[in-house]
Amino acid sequence: MTSVAVTGWRRLGPAGLDRSRPHRTVVDGAAYAIVHLDGRWRVFSDDCPHRMARLSTGRIVEDRLECPYHGWRFDGSGRCTLVPSLGPNVAIPTRAATSQAGVAVERDGSLWAEFG
Ligand code: FES
Repeated sequence: MTSVAVTGWRRLGPAGLDRSRPHRTVVDGAAYAIVHLDGRWRVFSDDCPHRMARLSTGRIVEDRLECPYHGWRFDGSGRCTLVPSLGPNVAIPTRAATSQAGVAVERDGSLWAEFG
């Protein structure tokens, strides 16, 4: 299957989404998790970089997006900040980051993100 890169401004949904939890949207066949972290709406691939669980079914804990499967947590930049199975004082590999499509903004009653 060939994937097509999403580019340009796209409407993700209505403005005023519940900021206390992640949301899912699909743009041109690609699924994204929309989440409000670090004071802004963020758009990540909906696939967790660990085992591909849907990040949009996770939860927000201490301003981080927590994957529902093994509890990895991601900050607003997509950087992984917690891998519970590693325990304390163990460096988290940078490859554990989720891919971030960008930042979303509310305008004219909708939530928009620029891809590309
Ligand atoms: S699938 Fe997300 S932490 Fe394992």
